[in-house]
Amino acid sequence: MREAGYNVVLLPGDGIGPEVVGEGRKVLAALAEGGPAPWRLEEHPGGGQYYLKHGKEWEPEGEAAARRADAILLGAIGWPGATLPNGDNAGGALVLGLRQALDLYANVRPCRLYPGVRHRISDGYQSVWQPKNVDLVIIRENTEGLYTPTRGRLRRADETEVAIDTRVITRKGAERVVRYAFELSQRRGRGAPEDHRSRVTCVDKSNVLEGCRFFRETYDRVASEYKAIDRDYAYVDAFTQWLVRQPEHYDVVVSTNMMGDIITDLASVLQGGMGFAAGGNIGDEHAMFEPVHGSAPKYAGQNRVNPFATFFALEMLLRWLSDRHGDRGLARQADRLESAVARVLAAGTARTYDQGGTATTTDAGDRVAEAIRGAPA
Ligand code: IPM
Ligand code: MN
Repeated sequence: MREAGYNVVLLPGDGIGPEVVGEGRKVLAALAEGGPAPWRLEEHPGGGQYYLKHGKEWEPEGEAAARRADAILLGAIGWPGATLPNGDNAGGALVLGLRQALDLYANVRPCRLYPGVRHRISDGYQSVWQPKNVDLVIIRENTEGLYTPTRGRLRRADETEVAIDTRVITRKGAERVVRYAFELSQRRGRGAPEDHRSRVTCVDKSNVLEGCRFFRETYDRVASEYKAIDRDYAYVDAFTQWLVRQPEHYDVVVSTNMMGDIITDLASVLQGGMGFAAGGNIGDEHAMFEPVHGSAPKYAGQNRVNPFATFFALEMLLRWLSDRHGDRGLARQADRLESAVARVLAAGTARTYDQGGTATTTDAGDRVAEAIRGAPA
């Protein structure tokens, strides 16, 4: 463990971001009770709402803190009407900006359905969407593809004539994210629910797109180094239905940036909705974790939303720090957090509106904090 504790920078951001990050603080405080906290929390404002008030997305101190943090927790970014002069969403500096600046090339989005969590399609016993069938991780490339900042407009006489987004796939970008996926499949070790075989599925559109052909070639090259892991391929359109019909087939899935963005939102439905979807933006030196749900302006300030995605994001953050620093204590804290969350979900005592319940955001945080305190440390 670090003498002064790991420096964890919290960027609550917009809308419901501060509410869910506040519950995150609550559960971290419960984990740290009875000893010196192994982390130091440092919070910085920023985002679209900040931009509307102050004319800038965040302060230089916030950015500097994020750059030197041991790990970052981001709440959510985006607010209606908060737009930069160039048309980008204000607050983008905190999410897209940090993904580039800190080279957070792997966007890691686990999709696991916990016992006690409801989903919207069918709860019947014949549904394939049961906890035993939904346990996969989607890895999305996070620094290039269609998000490469090489877009623009051709304007003539103040009229837009052409708008172009270029999709860039590089050897380095594809290779490192595919390698990340194979390494993760190896580390997870439990394979897909269907057959317990370790499997990395390459999701692309290589029947049409050149960049996807290159992505798949790169996948094959890296895959040849991992003989114990099954290769698996899916075109992204077909994948959307296979994922829904047969989630148990998947262990680790890897895809390009924009495709990964879309399929991870789809996958969240299998795990109970966006309220449970957490992600890690991970590079070789830095990492930022976040609930994937966004700022949900219409629920802001109502103490209504589901904070579990933030708890899962924190669990990922603790595990990443633990691996990076060889700190077993942090892994134990992550285990305590996960076990507390799993017990609360199984008991059904913290169901927010999206789960058909009446629990508030703060109720859910209270239940998890209590479960942490009740657990043998
Ligand atoms: C996500 C979000 C972001 C993205 C937005 C907020 C820029 O949708 O993290 O999936 O498109 O990557
Ligand atoms: Mn998204």
